Amino acid sequence: MALQHFVSAFTLTCLLLSPGCQSEMECGITPLNNTMTGGENIPRQWPWQVYITQGYPWSCGGSLISDLWVLSSATCINNTMYNGSMMHVYLGGPNNTVARNVTSITFYDVTESGNDICLLKLESPVAFTDHIRPICLPTNNSSFYTGMPAWFTSQYWNVNWNLHLSIMGHDRCECYRNENISQNTICAQGYVRMSNNGGPMMTKDRYGTNVWVQAGIENGSWGIYQTFISVSFYEDWIKEKTMGNQPGFVTVNSDGFDPDSDFSCEDYSVFAGGENLVPISHFISLSVPLLFFYLLL
Ligand SMILES: *[C@@H]1O[C@H](CO)[C@@H](O)[C@H](O)[C@H]1NC(C)=O
Ligand SMILES: *[C@@H]1O[C@H](CO)[C@@H](O)[C@H](O)[C@H]1NC(C)=O
Ligand SMILES: *[C@@H]1O[C@H](CO)[C@@H](O)[C@H](O)[C@H]1NC(C)=O
Ligand SMILES: *[C@@H]1O[C@H](CO)[C@@H](O)[C@H](O)[C@H]1NC(C)=O
Ligand SMILES: *[C@@H]1O[C@H](CO)[C@@H](O)[C@H](O)[C@H]1NC(C)=O
Ligand SMILES: *[C@@H]1O[C@H](CO)[C@@H](O)[C@H](O)[C@H]1NC(C)=O
Ligand SMILES: *[C@@H]1O[C@H](CO)[C@@H](O)[C@H](O)[C@H]1NC(C)=O
Ligand SMILES: *[C@@H]1O[C@H](CO)[C@@H](O)[C@H](O)[C@H]1NC(C)=O
Ligand SMILES: *[C@@H]1O[C@H](CO)[C@@H](O)[C@H](O)[C@H]1NC(C)=O
Repeated sequence: MALQHFVSAFTLTCLLLSPGCQSEMECGITPLNNTMTGGENIPRQWPWQVYITQGYPWSCGGSLISDLWVLSSATCINNTMYNGSMMHVYLGGPNNTVARNVTSITFYDVTESGNDICLLKLESPVAFTDHIRPICLPTNNSSFYTGMPAWFTSQYWNVNWNLHLSIMGHDRCECYRNENISQNTICAQGYVRMSNNGGPMMTKDRYGTNVWVQAGIENGSWGIYQTFISVSFYEDWIKEKTMGNQPGFVTVNSDGFDPDSDFSCEDYSVFAGGENLVPISHFISLSVPLLFFYLLL
């Protein structure tokens, strides 16, 4: 804990004092760590969390990745029937809101299906404050092992969720979901209370720079074994499109043994009934009362 605070204090000092500091260290820092949950500092104010509107209060979530670019889900943005003069990005959370118009939307090659990612370019750069900062993105050689803690957040109007998830490796994900999962997908296990399409699923680079890194983009996942768009898969594309105002990339390394490396789906089938093995059909019947329960809180 002490080391962690020292590292973030050092990073901030470094940012303020030295123009030669690594630009990627500007990302993934939460100056306001005002809430503690489960032994982890979880700020209620995630400074990269944005919401995107188009004439009506809520359409999509997104994340700030540099002073000029926001990352979101292509299907969510496309469903808003983009009209440049009406699309706004809101940053800084409900109490320190800053708005920006959007000047362009960049989709991934639309001829290829299943690349549910897009970049919104803001009309003018935002200044970074305690309430507005970019999140770091993972390089394509990052490793996200099964069990790595992750968070899925939603923050708009007076609604604020910080959901604790855990990363699930590719083989487990295919097995538990009983479907083929493509390489541009990252899975996590946990309960989604409510969707925040386009919003970030993030993790902390614990064994490296200790900054927050966006592992996935939410695109309508629901249930206990969720899929997200894997951001690291798109490193090259994001770098190319954001040329001049590039986000900070860090290589996330998981520690130790990869639990996915000796996972066998056949063993899973044989020993079904173990601790994490909640069949999806059972979960769905549970999830409706759960949703109401959470909304009442
Ligand atoms: C972050 O949280 C720790 C522990 O609660 C506290 O000591 C520290 O002052 C906080 N830092 C900021 C910048 O609020
Ligand atoms: C956006 O929606 C239109 C109409 O439904 C569709 O033809 C197009 O392929 C979509 N683009 C993307 C990037 O999803
Ligand atoms: C976009 O919205 C503006 C303001 O409501 C409207 O005047 C304009 O016709 C719209 N453009 C399109 C292409 O829908
Ligand atoms: C915003 O301000 C209200 C009223 O002061 C407060 O209750 C709420 O916790 C604040 N929200 C955040 C995200 O700081
Ligand atoms: C968005 O653009 C419109 C029209 O150019 C302008 O009137 C408005 O002030 C801009 N809004 C923001 C938040 O920049
Ligand atoms: C989410 O993204 C995945 C991978 O890009 C795609 O296969 C899936 O159809 C998307 N889901 C929705 C609801 O758009
Ligand atoms: C990973 O990123 C590096 C550096 O940006 C790039 O040279 C390489 O082609 C990428 N690899 C893949 C598999 O995308
Ligand atoms: C990952 O790629 C980056 C460059 O994009 C490189 O600096 C780093 O050493 C690589 N890490 C591993 C573990 O391969
Ligand atoms: C995954 O893909 C393989 C090869 O295309 C296919 O044989 C298999 O049935 C698929 N599995 C599932 C669960 O869809």
